Amino acid sequence: MKLYRIPEPGAIENLTLVEEPDPAPGDHEVLIRIRAVSLNYRDLMVIRGTYGRGGQRPNLVPCSDGAGEVIAIGNQVSRVKVGDRVAGIFMQKWIAGEVTAEGAPQAGASALGGAIDGMLAEQVVLHEDGLVQIPEHLSFEEGSTLPCAAVTAWHAVVDFGQTRAGDTVLVLGTGGVSIFALQFARMHGARVIATSSNEEKIRSVHAMGADATVNYKSFPDWQHGVLEATAKRGVDLVVEVGGAGTLPRSIDSVRFGGKIALIGVLTSGEINPTRLMGKSVTLQGIYVGSREMFEAMNRAIALHKMRPVIDRVFEFDQAQEAYRHLASASHFGKVVIRVE
Ligand SMILES: NC(=O)c1ccc[n+]([C@@H]2O[C@H](COP(=O)([O-])OP(=O)(O)OC[C@H]3O[C@@H](n4cnc5c(N)ncnc54)[C@H](OP(=O)(O)O)[C@@H]3O)[C@@H](O)[C@H]2O)c1
Repeated sequence: MKLYRIPEPGAIENLTLVEEPDPAPGDHEVLIRIRAVSLNYRDLMVIRGTYGRGGQRPNLVPCSDGAGEVIAIGNQVSRVKVGDRVAGIFMQKWIAGEVTAEGAPQAGASALGGAIDGMLAEQVVLHEDGLVQIPEHLSFEEGSTLPCAAVTAWHAVVDFGQTRAGDTVLVLGTGGVSIFALQFARMHGARVIATSSNEEKIRSVHAMGADATVNYKSFPDWQHGVLEATAKRGVDLVVEVGGAGTLPRSIDSVRFGGKIALIGVLTSGEINPTRLMGKSVTLQGIYVGSREMFEAMNRAIALHKMRPVIDRVFEFDQAQEAYRHLASASHFGKVVIRVE
């Protein structure tokens, strides 16, 4: 089978197509014929060698996100059967419940496409516990977008945000996490305010139900636009994918007693913690989510027949081009690689 490895991190050109023997499942393992893989900003950090969290496996098979069909199972497997359409869960060992001091290192050490080999391969073997069924109405391409960006957005908007009808949620930019967050916030009856650097993308988020938008490039002090759009009250929840560079403005944008889901590291800067205190804001770090969250999210996606937004699908031999497309930040939603 064919697969990609990163013999040495540094640049996208280091992504190397190799041929290796087909893997075979052990007793509790499942052999998946991967049909599609989606890219996340993290995959750019991994290939550039700037992804610090939990270390990176040498000669890594990259990418956390993939979906495919089960083509063989070990003799003790009971959770799935041959023919099932499945996706891997981001942290193979975070099944349910909250992150604990005991569980976190183990979960982090089981992150696909980082601490352990990932999904950019024609075939992958995973433990049966590290899988979920993908919703029936989704294609493999759509299903492949779920494990990282969608679960992170669900964790932020639903588990942490407890978003309810009438709430206002702020999403930053139009990448994978933010577009899912917009969809989940709308699903729960919330009003969405979105920022973007691009007018065409702003039109697209309006078409998806965003109520107000601010171009953060033309209006670097975009927090004023957010406050104006909320009659100065501020938003209930910020899905913070920008990181330190956007956080001060997110703190300005959130209401007193509101919440900020701290997710991203797209920008750098400094923050003043007293501003958080002064507004009694809850700041929660989010690191993807558990299988339990993934399954709850899939039930909601299935019920609402929600469809992930895919910007572009690349072929397997165009993987480097797919990475370059993500790096250009010209995408809206998700970038996918078809594996057939
Ligand atoms: N903690 C976690 O578990 C977790 C999980 C997933 C992702 N993340 C992090 O979340 C971030 C987003 O990930 P992703 O995969 O969704 O990325 P992505 O798809 O590559 O998103 C890129 C988009 O972010 C927007 N952006 C960039 N700089 C911005 C800024 N200064 N202000 C507002 N928006 C900005 C841009 O949108 P426009 O083109 O519209 O301007 C850009 O197109 C990354 O830092 C990633 O590492 C963390």
